[in-house]
Amino acid sequence: MVEKHILALQLSHILGENFPRDWVHGLIETPKQADHGDLAFPCFQLAKTFRKSPAEIAKEIAPKLQHQVFQQVRPVGGYINIFLNQSFIANHTLQQLLTDPGQFGAHQFGKGETIVLDMSAPNIAKPFSMGHLRSTVIGNALANLAEKCGYETVKINYIGDYGTQFGKLLAAYQKWGDEKSVRENPIQELTKIYVKFHEASKEDPSLIDEGRSWFKKLEEQDEEAVKLWRWFKDASLEEFEKIYRLLGIDFDLTRGEAYYNDKMSDTINLLKDEQLLVDSEGAQVVPLDEVSLPPCLIRKSDGTTIYATRDLTAAIDRFNNYQFNKALYVVGHEQTLHFQQIQQVLQKMNFSWAPNLKHISFGMMLKDGKKMSTRQGKTVLLEQVLKEAITRAEENIEEKNPTLANAGEIAEQVGVGAVIFHDLKHDRRNDVEFSLEDMLTFEGNTAPYIQYTHARAASLLEKGSFRIKDAVTTFDDELAWPIIKLVRNYPEVVENAYKDYDPSKIAKYLLDASRAFNQYYAKTKILESDQQQARLTVIFALTVVLKDGLNILGIQAPLQM
Ligand code: ARG
Repeated sequence: MVEKHILALQLSHILGENFPRDWVHGLIETPKQADHGDLAFPCFQLAKTFRKSPAEIAKEIAPKLQHQVFQQVRPVGGYINIFLNQSFIANHTLQQLLTDPGQFGAHQFGKGETIVLDMSAPNIAKPFSMGHLRSTVIGNALANLAEKCGYETVKINYIGDYGTQFGKLLAAYQKWGDEKSVRENPIQELTKIYVKFHEASKEDPSLIDEGRSWFKKLEEQDEEAVKLWRWFKDASLEEFEKIYRLLGIDFDLTRGEAYYNDKMSDTINLLKDEQLLVDSEGAQVVPLDEVSLPPCLIRKSDGTTIYATRDLTAAIDRFNNYQFNKALYVVGHEQTLHFQQIQQVLQKMNFSWAPNLKHISFGMMLKDGKKMSTRQGKTVLLEQVLKEAITRAEENIEEKNPTLANAGEIAEQVGVGAVIFHDLKHDRRNDVEFSLEDMLTFEGNTAPYIQYTHARAASLLEKGSFRIKDAVTTFDDELAWPIIKLVRNYPEVVENAYKDYDPSKIAKYLLDASRAFNQYYAKTKILESDQQQARLTVIFALTVVLKDGLNILGIQAPLQM
């Protein structure tokens, strides 16, 4: 909160240069109990330097803290408790929000800079996995946060459409492929024959050679191979598109790995020119011993190039196209080594922008404590998960509000919102346990709870015919203070969530804000009270941050539920 900075500045000024502002800032607490004030500074760590008891120090410093935002400064034991000037801060915050509600919480520090996000990136002919869902929603939220901070963003969907596995798939299709079934159910059918091929090749190793020769054909642009590959790709993209449509997420660029096939020789030549390539049992690698990493494999002994080579090429191409200031790769933990290698190789190639690549890694989605696997036939089809969430949301709404007009559309916003929020409310680095029951309750830490709170607040505004031009920002309502403080904090929460690449900061904020509203609402008469306009103004401010925060996470905020 802004006031925390003011306090830190004053304290460090009073304490002298041995106590820098940032150090002081780190010590300031925000008490949970209202009677301890809004901010508190513990003096215990000062005792040694000043050779006085913390309580004495608190007593001495307290009267020196003076600012129009401090209403009262009280030394209590070893603490200095600060009570903020509620009416001043409320007035200031609400005025600021009302001047341009859509811009509240926005920042300018990203102006003129571009951030490229590598996100989603499912693999064709395979089901869209939970990992890809995580990448999609985390990437989307980070893009929204970046935009809110003034950056230009480029969202890139780097489709996995190349690699030796497609040789196997083509070989499998020759053996067991059925055009009609693939047309009807492309991903399921292709996964089936791919798995079958995998099993069968354990018994009959000659299949491996068949797979290899089909990959070779694909590399050599054999007409039949390319035709099938293209068909599988288009059919897969069509399936993925259904998921993106449900999620309400789109991309600035959808570009597969294969796009870089004919561009990789440039990268390899550059590596050669810089004398970075080394022969290793027929393969070519870039050694990375000096940074304690295993060598980065660039070209296999059979001459085929690999994942890393394409990523190097793609990074260079992206820099040439966008001159990005940062490139975020939203990809699971298991690829940490890969991205370290990519970054180091680019560094060795002397690309000044190499340090601006950042792997935004995340944990797994678990079901009953185990990885949700797409292999072993235990396929979890994401589209089905989303549809199931929507159906359950429909049932919930039917129970709560049977006369709701556009119930279908709202159920979609609630069901999808629930799935997205459930992912984003956790620190992305942790694993997430998947549970439809938990994500859909209206009472827990869920999107439906926040959406429902927003809708209740919106209906109060509607009933009270609130208009911005009638807003009242003079303030005399102790009970609304927790809401005011939250609203005041919103811009800082946005900034921190962006800087830490951590959408869960927004998610947690939204839960706090919803709880604050519900507590206020339970205790306060809003409509037809003597302070109706002022109270509605506070509620309006709250709906602004709730909606904006939800939208940053990629979640809709319906006006009714
Ligand atoms: N398609 C890959 C996978 O599913 C993820 C790609 C991530 N992005 C990248 N630039 N490597 O594992």
